[in-house]
Amino acid sequence: MFFMFDTLEGYIKPGTVEAELVKQIDFTRLPVHVAIIMDGNGRWARQRNLPRTEGHKAGSESVKEAVEAAARLGIKYLTLYAFSRENWKRPEDEVNTLWGLLRKYLAEESRVLLENDLRLKVIGERNGIPYLVRRELARVERQTRNNRRMTVVLALNYGGRQEIIKAIKKMVRRKSRLEEIDENSFARYLDTAGIPDPDLLIRTSGEMRLSNFLLWQSAYTELWVTPVLWPDFRKKDLLQAVVDYQKRERRFGGVEPVQKKGRT
Ligand code: IPE
Ligand code: IPE
Ligand code: MG
Repeated sequence: MFFMFDTLEGYIKPGTVEAELVKQIDFTRLPVHVAIIMDGNGRWARQRNLPRTEGHKAGSESVKEAVEAAARLGIKYLTLYAFSRENWKRPEDEVNTLWGLLRKYLAEESRVLLENDLRLKVIGERNGIPYLVRRELARVERQTRNNRRMTVVLALNYGGRQEIIKAIKKMVRRKSRLEEIDENSFARYLDTAGIPDPDLLIRTSGEMRLSNFLLWQSAYTELWVTPVLWPDFRKKDLLQAVVDYQKRERRFGGVEPVQKKGRT
């Protein structure tokens, strides 16, 4: 079954918790870019006496729900941290399961992305990603490159520090003149070039750290941590994060709240 993501109408049932949350959202002030550190799959599995890989399987369902809910809500960029540079330290079978699940996701969801005007973009170090996965990623990125409704940014084999080093190397190779180096020109060398900085960063499973995610880009991002484990993350959690985000006062170092969205 392939569905067209329309608006929230029909998706949110009247009288539910979700409907109450939607009423509280100001649609003129949505976060443009929401980034998520999807954490807690292993603990979710352990609570059920299942192998960690079962947690990752359950987590891929949450990915589908988060993508659909964000698109329907009107989010323009959704970044999902799916595999860090440091995640290679995990047992080989867990690592293989993670890449296998990504391949399955791409096979199942590429049509959903296409039909709903969603663009896929990968950030992170492509070299190192298993070849078959890399090929699928390149295919879906190519197929969806003109889609405009929302960009799904997958952070794969990604590390914020490594991304910064890679950008510096590229910049030095181009022999940029010292006077020309500033925040904006440097940001164009990052994997996220052209993508606005995240307005809202969600981390599930209660951990209060960035784990090497979007270090440069999250300078003024609003952080929102929930104890909910990633496989239990549902649309109501995304809606709650947006409601809470809209109550924050973003000052960007000044004294008055700034209404404009995060800088690019
Ligand atoms: C997040 O869940 C998935 C990835 C990091 C790929 P974890 O696997 O980190 O789950 P916990 O933190 O061990 O519960
Ligand atoms: C961060 O989660 C990476 C991803 C969600 C892909 P981790 O579970 O790897 O982070 P730490 O090890 O708890 O910091
Ligand atoms: Mg974890």
